Amino acid sequence: MKNFGIRIMASAALALCLILSVPGRTSGSEPPTTGASARPDHVTLTWTGDPATTMTVTWRTDATVGESFVEYGQGAALTGKALRAPGTARDFTSDLGTARIFSATLAGLAPGKRYTYRVGGGDHWSETSSFETARKKIDRFTFLIFGDSQAPIDGDAPFGIWRRTALSAIRENPEARFMVLTGDLTDWGLMQAHWNAWFAASRGIIDRLPFMPVSGNHEHYGSRKAARQDYYLAQFTLPGNGPEGLRGQAYSYDYGPVHFVVLDSQQVEQRQQGDILTPQKEWLERDLAGSEAPWKIAFFHRPPYGTKLNRDEAEIRDAFCPILERHGVDLVFNAHDHGISRTPPMKGGVAMEKASEGTIYLVVGHSGGKTYKDNARKEFHDFFYNPLDQPNYWVLEASEKKIGVKARKVDGTIIDSFEIDSKGTFKQKEQLKEN
Ligand SMILES: [Fe+2]
Repeated sequence: MKNFGIRIMASAALALCLILSVPGRTSGSEPPTTGASARPDHVTLTWTGDPATTMTVTWRTDATVGESFVEYGQGAALTGKALRAPGTARDFTSDLGTARIFSATLAGLAPGKRYTYRVGGGDHWSETSSFETARKKIDRFTFLIFGDSQAPIDGDAPFGIWRRTALSAIRENPEARFMVLTGDLTDWGLMQAHWNAWFAASRGIIDRLPFMPVSGNHEHYGSRKAARQDYYLAQFTLPGNGPEGLRGQAYSYDYGPVHFVVLDSQQVEQRQQGDILTPQKEWLERDLAGSEAPWKIAFFHRPPYGTKLNRDEAEIRDAFCPILERHGVDLVFNAHDHGISRTPPMKGGVAMEKASEGTIYLVVGHSGGKTYKDNARKEFHDFFYNPLDQPNYWVLEASEKKIGVKARKVDGTIIDSFEIDSKGTFKQKEQLKEN
């Protein structure tokens, strides 16, 4: 065993994120517009219930639309027998005005089947899309993880890099069942124009694969102060099983043999609203104690074992790591530093021999274009790579006995690849030379 004596340093990251100008706002004498119309957009799949029998669909219209529906049916096309589920409306007023967000959870679906659907009503419908429900018994499944997609929204292809990364990951991994984005979806999450650009780039992606997001610090930046995560939470419909007052910011779900936990690590941004860590810690204890899943995986944005020089997330490490490690969480995926790294299995700041004795912390790189030159291997890293040349994504394949993890560049190059099995054995597979 090796004690790394982790240094505690105050985080001054927020000071680097001062906002000096306001891109994306309607200019001149034109009144701002939400970008929404009677025709639905921002169609997104998430799960708020059992992935085998439910699917939650969220979409947006302008505030003139009174009723809107999901029309859906099994098979490759909608027929006269299509079912209709009414959307529940919630109005969201952003810096661009008020839009209407609808969501509906389709229930009683058949496991392991493809459904075709569209959303809307009257003369205004979205394009037809489709999804597949989870099988009742899942022996093995694959899913995708992406780091920060954040990008400026100026230029002719805002979030184009994120779109290319996501499409490439889906094309190369057609068996993937869902996707996770580990925070900093947008650059300025308190400006609706940034969300509009992100959703435009995500069309044909998050309406086909369930999309389970994590909030990041950039979800708090913008031209005005907003309460907690109101823009982020308005855009998505997320599981409501998190701690009271932080529903959607923290949540958990199960898929096959894996229990997934999502946490909000943005205490710095939410200090004025109070302590968001204590309620999450209490909830996390209960949530993990209540799971008998063979594997447990956690996601949150700020990394307890990050890659960026002069950055240390001691507050988050002290809050979450003891609980994650005590309850045998196998893998923790973090973002924020835009580097790629992996620790040995850690317990209390100490590297353990077997994967089953500790928690492996990974920093996931980036799915957008933003890179940091001042990323470096630190004393607690078993692997480090700074993906300066290309964005990257992660492919995980999980079965009861084994989890395989691969970080890939968009061109397919494997950056890091390893397996852990139910006996606690860690097996290194392909790996790129550290840079
Ligand atoms: Fe971040």
